[in-house]
Amino acid sequence: MSQRILVTAATGTVGRHVTARLAEDGAEVRALSRTPAGFPPGVQPLRGDLSAPGSLAPAVDGVDAVFLIWPFASVDGLEAVLALMAGHARKLVYLSSATVREHERRAEGLIERSGLEWTVLRPHAFAANASRWAGQIRAGDMVREPYGRAAMSLVHEQDIAAVAVAALLQEGHEGAVHELTGPESLTQAEQVRVIGEAVGRPVRWEEAPPEEARQRMLARGWPPEVADDVLRAQAAMTAGPAPVTTTVEKVTGTPARTFRSWADAHKHLFQPSS
Ligand SMILES: NC(=O)c1ccc[n+]([C@@H]2O[C@H](COP(=O)([O-])OP(=O)(O)OC[C@H]3O[C@@H](n4cnc5c(N)ncnc54)[C@H](OP(=O)(O)O)[C@@H]3O)[C@@H](O)[C@H]2O)c1
Repeated sequence: MSQRILVTAATGTVGRHVTARLAEDGAEVRALSRTPAGFPPGVQPLRGDLSAPGSLAPAVDGVDAVFLIWPFASVDGLEAVLALMAGHARKLVYLSSATVREHERRAEGLIERSGLEWTVLRPHAFAANASRWAGQIRAGDMVREPYGRAAMSLVHEQDIAAVAVAALLQEGHEGAVHELTGPESLTQAEQVRVIGEAVGRPVRWEEAPPEEARQRMLARGWPPEVADDVLRAQAAMTAGPAPVTTTVEKVTGTPARTFRSWADAHKHLFQPSS
């Protein structure tokens, strides 16, 4: 019998790939969003708001497992949502992060105590984060930002989804914390060079003072503490190469996708016509 799986944040960077892969693998998929639309055939779109547990009752009814993204910077309300899920599902796979920020650490704790069979995914920075440079690359031949030497082992969102699907559909991931990276550490300047290779014209990194980037983030409405956290994290990443794990290959049987493969598949984002 096929498994009935609820995917939260099903419209998001990872959630949409989890939804598509589960459907391909023959699971019965419920895709949750506040504005559910655009899912593959066979997927059941469900409207629900994670900040309003009452709106989730139809989504959780009769599910075997849940893929959970908690898209908030606090765990307020999470315990009630977990209690609701534990009343129906057996398994829960939670997308945390390798940074394990305070709210993620607390969320992991609540999930461990929820009574559900849990798996935690701790991905490093997503390859998709590189799309933040699309405007600069479309408009010219450089990216001007601070900390070009900051190194990251960017993980392809389809690999995160592949690990999530394995944990949802297969046994043996209960109680596991999977730290997920891509296959190599690349500095930000190297990432920009790789995007240039994918689009077929040189793109270079131009080092900007951190304060310039901070002012841009504030102008975009970011709270100062968030802007400062991002810049502090990037400064810390200049210390040396980022760690690389082999978890994606161990779990899925396929080596983690390279950043170049992400750039090739997304080059339209960086081309002037898009
Ligand atoms: N970006 C990274 O490098 C990185 C690294 C490690 C971990 N992470 C974690 O990955 C997760 C996903 O981040 P992302 O930036 O890729 O975002 P995302 O998943 O692309 O977008 C947020 C998703 O959350 C859903 N959502 C937001 N508020 C909701 C609500 N009140 N009720 C129901 N659904 C709601 C949105 O759906 P609708 O708008 O359709 O309702 C959307 O699908 C986050 O928890 C993040 O901390 C990110």
